[in-house]
Amino acid sequence: MDVETLRRRLPVGGLGEPLEFHHQVGSTNDRAHALAAQGAPHGALVVAEEQTAGRGRAGRRWYTPPGAALALSLVLRPPALKPTQAAALPALGALAVAEALEAAGVRAEIKWPNDVLLAGRKVAGVLAEAVWEGAGLAYAVLGIGVNVRPQAVPPEDRLDFPATCVEAVVGQPVERAGLLVAVVAGVARWLPRLGEADLRQAWEARLAFRGQEVAVTGALGSLRGRVVGLADDGRLRLETEGGPVLVGFGEVHLRPIDRTDE
Ligand code: BTN
Repeated sequence: MDVETLRRRLPVGGLGEPLEFHHQVGSTNDRAHALAAQGAPHGALVVAEEQTAGRGRAGRRWYTPPGAALALSLVLRPPALKPTQAAALPALGALAVAEALEAAGVRAEIKWPNDVLLAGRKVAGVLAEAVWEGAGLAYAVLGIGVNVRPQAVPPEDRLDFPATCVEAVVGQPVERAGLLVAVVAGVARWLPRLGEADLRQAWEARLAFRGQEVAVTGALGSLRGRVVGLADDGRLRLETEGGPVLVGFGEVHLRPIDRTDE
């Protein structure tokens, strides 16, 4: 990635400064936590060409081989953020990625709560980590990983959901620095609207598997139902055999049920 291009185009919407760029790092989220603990300001950004210990949701590993993906983490210190608003932070990240991809001419969907899909396959993941001081937010780290080139797609045996990359769907080379700036710009655009109806509507408009039967697995077991939409607070509305159910955030895994499997 061309770092000079990145430096010239950042900050955007108040995010992306200071920029810490690594050719190789363990995890950009870990690095952003370390910077935040040392007092890094709102908008500080860590970018890496390669992660050797990238982290995904639910303690999973996230694969970032050199020069093929986006791996970025923002330090965010939005004023007076409530826990309910912080819960929508991962979705905000997914929405920013989806819109940046749509600007490249493809249709992106969001697999609840916050995986970005292209052509039904996962292309990006979001790991948001909030650090609280009493009832107030000390800071949050918003980590985003996007598979851009084919080399970024993990081997099949390491996947828990089918994956793809941006270039496979766009059908031509994608300039990673430009895509990264577009994602950061999207985060900046939506951040003041965290917890508001228009963010939820933009998220819901891209909700994957709407009207389809899915299985949702989490700490409380497994649930099956048809995806109806989102509740006001971003929980997933499912229509199950026993009636309507709201699925809360947390370590939840959602997958479509392919009736031909049954
Ligand atoms: C997931 O879908 O499981 C979330 C993946 C989040 C990966 C990104 S890559 C940049 C940042 N640094 C990390 O270690 N993780 C996030």
